[in-house]
Amino acid sequence: MESTPGSLRLLFPTSEQIPEEVRIKEPLHQKTILINGELVKWEGDSQPVFSPVSLRSGDTLEPVEIGSYPLGTEKEAQLALDAAVKAYDDGRGDWPTMGVAARIAHMEDFTFKMIAAKKDIVQLLMWEIGKSFDASNKEFDRTIDYIHATIAALKETDNSSSRFEIIEGIAGQIRRAPLGVVLCMGPFNYPLNETFTILIPALIMGNTVLFKPPKHGTLLFAPMLQALATAFPKGVVNTIYGRGANVVPKLMASGKISVLGLIGSSRVADQLIKEHPKTNRLRPVLSLDAKNLAVVLPDADLPETVSECILGALSFNGQRCTAIKIIMVHRSIAEQFIALLAAGVNKLKIGMPWENGVSITPLPEPGKPAYLKECLDQAIGYGARIVNPGGGEMVAAMVRPAVVYPVDERMKLYREEQFGPVIPVVPFDDVDEPIKYLINSNHGQQISLFGTSPGDIAGLLDPLVNLVCRVNINAQCQRGPDAFPFTGRKDSADGTLSVSDALRAFSIRSMVATKLNDLNKQIVNTIVHENESRFLNTQFIF
Ligand code: G3H
Repeated sequence: MESTPGSLRLLFPTSEQIPEEVRIKEPLHQKTILINGELVKWEGDSQPVFSPVSLRSGDTLEPVEIGSYPLGTEKEAQLALDAAVKAYDDGRGDWPTMGVAARIAHMEDFTFKMIAAKKDIVQLLMWEIGKSFDASNKEFDRTIDYIHATIAALKETDNSSSRFEIIEGIAGQIRRAPLGVVLCMGPFNYPLNETFTILIPALIMGNTVLFKPPKHGTLLFAPMLQALATAFPKGVVNTIYGRGANVVPKLMASGKISVLGLIGSSRVADQLIKEHPKTNRLRPVLSLDAKNLAVVLPDADLPETVSECILGALSFNGQRCTAIKIIMVHRSIAEQFIALLAAGVNKLKIGMPWENGVSITPLPEPGKPAYLKECLDQAIGYGARIVNPGGGEMVAAMVRPAVVYPVDERMKLYREEQFGPVIPVVPFDDVDEPIKYLINSNHGQQISLFGTSPGDIAGLLDPLVNLVCRVNINAQCQRGPDAFPFTGRKDSADGTLSVSDALRAFSIRSMVATKLNDLNKQIVNTIVHENESRFLNTQFIF
């Protein structure tokens, strides 16, 4: 890795250096909003979209405008809400009363159309948020796998509900039913995947949806709007564009949103929930902030630990909610650990998202480099140092990763979720210190524990599983595999997401019950045999 800000500048391409196959041929100026099954023409103001990748020309770096999207207002948001409310029709709409097999067929139709748009979606994902080409492809493929797994899980759930339970002379058929209108909002770091991990289960369970793309990572949904419009009945999926702070609080204040599916910050989630006039009628399904800790015990296998810590802290530049955002290392091995960590970090390839093997790419949040600089300057002011040569250098949106040591509680890096390529390292003497750190933390998502003694690890596991929701032994923190429960304590989550948990989160159990006398047996048998109800039936979905 080169080591001067000048050389960092040279990583940005001139126009000619952009490979033909990843070049944006024409900016994408999105001029439609999906409302009530129509791509409604937009003639109002637009929000320009600039890539975190700048173009170099002589000594200057120019941001690249890759397109624009509608800066929708309260008016369009209200129309979208009206459409979703109408399509739900208090549970009487076509979609919420549709049989599960038919809903699955709509979802398969959408997936087929989405796959056809893969190239454009991946291209936009890469340019909008600076995610590497490989990781952008992976995000797309993971999302398709997630949809397929969701369909399989729903079939299984529905088939196992296709029978009656008889208890105390009462026969019941228990299924899962939709909740109403769901507002879905995903994060910029996995704009496609994480948005769809809420949108897809919300839809397939029979809810109608308002879906607001994240602030960065908006345009990539444009190639899917037509597919969303045609694959689902009108009003089932509606989009919201515009500044979140202007349009979303009003939607919540209407009292017509039944579920808030949000992957983002706890601050925004808190504010939005408070807007709802009857919070008891609102189900929050939230995946929020995290400051995942890695603890390195004195007997840890250092090369393995360092490589997992780097993966955990710096994949997609540390912009993952599951990223390792602070490391506590036993003082006896701290110097050795940080030397290996610094050397490993400086081996990462830093460059443009389309380059082979690139790890560190430009950051999409315009204010992030300045914030990271503030954190680094403050840590240095309190006596920490940047261990890796060149760490923390920044030019435009590119920030060279920094390993900072020794971090302590006076520094922002100790508690704040930096969500960027900075690795704070804290020495400890007693294992009680990391435990206390977690007790005093606002977060409780995951932890990574590195060590080789089963006894020492076991001694920590029991308190740790009650402080976070996933303890990773000698492995980085992560959400996947997507069948595993993804949740957190305190400000980190409300509800659990996974392929099957999400189906539960966006639905409620509803049942039909009857006393088993001759008349009721005959009624139920007739309904089932004549296939007269979509809810009360015993069909098996293959
Ligand atoms: O941003 C948070 C994502 O859910 C992280 O997912 O651990 O698979 O990268 P991941």
